[in-house]
Amino acid sequence: MATKKTPAGAGTSKIATPAPPLSKSGEPSDGGLDFENLMNPGFDAERDDREASLRPKHLNEFLGQERLKENLGIFIKAARDRGEAMDHLFLVGPPGLGKTTLAQVVANELGVEWKPTSAPALDKPKDLAGILTTLKENAVLFIDEIHRLKPAIEEMLYIAMEDFELDWIIGQGPSARTVRIPLPRFTLIGATTKPGAVSSPLASRFGISLRFGYYESAELEAIVKRSADILGVDIDEVAAGLLGSSSRGTPRIANRLLRRMRDFAQVDVEGKFATKGRITREVVAAGLERLEVDSLGLEKMDREILRAIITRYAGGPVGAETLAISVGEGVDGLEDYYEPYLIQAGLLARTPRGRVVTSAAYAHLRMEQKSEDGRLQF
Ligand SMILES: Nc1ncnc2c1ncn2[C@@H]1O[C@H](COP(=O)(O)OP(=O)(O)O)[C@@H](O)[C@H]1O
Ligand SMILES: [Mg+2]
Repeated sequence: MATKKTPAGAGTSKIATPAPPLSKSGEPSDGGLDFENLMNPGFDAERDDREASLRPKHLNEFLGQERLKENLGIFIKAARDRGEAMDHLFLVGPPGLGKTTLAQVVANELGVEWKPTSAPALDKPKDLAGILTTLKENAVLFIDEIHRLKPAIEEMLYIAMEDFELDWIIGQGPSARTVRIPLPRFTLIGATTKPGAVSSPLASRFGISLRFGYYESAELEAIVKRSADILGVDIDEVAAGLLGSSSRGTPRIANRLLRRMRDFAQVDVEGKFATKGRITREVVAAGLERLEVDSLGLEKMDREILRAIITRYAGGPVGAETLAISVGEGVDGLEDYYEPYLIQAGLLARTPRGRVVTSAAYAHLRMEQKSEDGRLQF
């Protein structure tokens, strides 16, 4: 999982990795041009591990999300000054916006143990019990995808969060008895892309709840520059700006696009850039076109979704399941990853009857919008 702990500096040796080997067609053969995969909303452990070197360790390296950071900075300082565990923290937002990163920053800033896991990895109550009983005092326990906890584990977590105790059943049948095991104080940080799927008893036990919004282009530009610096790659100001505004408001995508642009600049198959590996506006413009990322930063699937609603459902409304099937995407991917950005970009709206595209979507796709009576609208 993305939360797997990477020892400090483990990614450094990978930074210097030369360009991927070329296949016969002259294309990088590591799947680097597979944009579907590049944008995969799900976790991809290997790619994320490679991102580890780019992952901010401290709050001042965590760029953007200013309001959220301001509050958090106060909570961290207060807990640290008191020498206590910080209140439980709930992080909500679409994939790739920095939830895992921020959780790790919190543990770092508090100067406490970082213990990451994820709900799907907690299969049996003993899996959670094993983690809880071995936590160091004031540790940060991070549970990713916390909306996927099993009920039995969730119940154990309630008591642990509230009373810092564990109910453990010893023996079986009539002789079984429950013992209460005291736990060290800890901070639970739960992350989710689906806050609606988290039960209210669980949600209410978090003292602090923070919601991530998409990043501004300028914030992403700053992230691109920081990453380029760490990767040791030259990038022009305009090129960084262009990447920032093409990253779907998402730092993970900004970093991935940056890597692909580095490949394009370095390999320069057709020899038309001749920038000696420097990422210029030309490299980015050509690279984005090749990856089928458009001027709004939309990728192919984004456009397919909009186009499907327009051509097959007359602009909507259409239900999420039906839409997911018609574009060959999972409902989760559609709801957690694609839709939030399309809505934020003003291209899609959710109504009680289903999804509808907006006039801006027609304009962006250069498609004609027909009115109810079938006439063209201008
Ligand atoms: N605020 C930020 N500043 C700089 N880089 C960031 C920031 N947020 C995220 N990143 C980068 O984006 C990547 C994805 O973030 P991550 O925390 O894994 O997202 P999430 O857990 O929300 O899916 C990280 O590896 C990190 O390099
Ligand atoms: Mg994460």
